[in-house]
Amino acid sequence: MDFSNKVIIITGASSGIGASCALHFAALRAKLSLVARNVDKLRNVAEECEKISGTKPLTIAADISVEEDNARIIQETAERYGTLDVLVNNAGILTLAGCLDNIKIFDQMVATNVRGTYLLTQKAIPYLIETKGNIINVSSVASQSVISPMTAYSMTKAALDMFTKCAALELAPKGSFQSKN
Ligand SMILES: NC(=O)c1ccc[n+]([C@@H]2O[C@H](COP(=O)([O-])OP(=O)(O)OC[C@H]3O[C@@H](n4cnc5c(N)ncnc54)[C@H](OP(=O)(O)O)[C@@H]3O)[C@@H](O)[C@H]2O)c1
Repeated sequence: MDFSNKVIIITGASSGIGASCALHFAALRAKLSLVARNVDKLRNVAEECEKISGTKPLTIAADISVEEDNARIIQETAERYGTLDVLVNNAGILTLAGCLDNIKIFDQMVATNVRGTYLLTQKAIPYLIETKGNIINVSSVASQSVISPMTAYSMTKAALDMFTKCAALELAPKGSFQSKN
């Protein structure tokens, strides 16, 4: 598969699944915008991508729970590449917490896993409609299985599942499709 003319934003690209995704798409020659808060870890992943593809990804230090950061992610990607084909909404946090734990833990997970993902997607959609692009939301088995104590996290991932379905229906007439992992 050749992605050499495809522009892909990957959030949470500084470690784990997002970093693996970045390396995989680098091998497919995609043009990458890698997003996370930890600049050093992000730079390391970008260097690994460059070794694979010969092209340096754009790295964007940003917190998706901050509205202005989401606008900047899209703006910097558009300035560098002029277009967008795929948004990988992978950034997420998991803190073990149940109903009796501090509401701040719940708020933090909602702000990143749900609101941040929603906001970034909103800002990416105009570009994705242009390219008939794709959105990949990284959910979790915890969205559908009851695992204790993951009440707050599971709720955020269940919300993400429903966002994926609703947005797919909403955007389908425009030629953009979502899928979920
Ligand atoms: N690993 C699993 O078994 C598993 C299972 C099911 C689902 N998932 C989901 O898969 C995704 C990736 O998880 P992972 O296991 O790879 O975890 P991870 O290694 O902790 O990666 C999470 C990534 O998200 C970034 N991130 C967190 N909060 C952010 C924020 N506010 N703004 C921007 N970036 C943020 C982190 O980077 P910085 O800290 O540098 O910002 C990091 O790059 C998550 O959505 C998670 O819920 C994981």
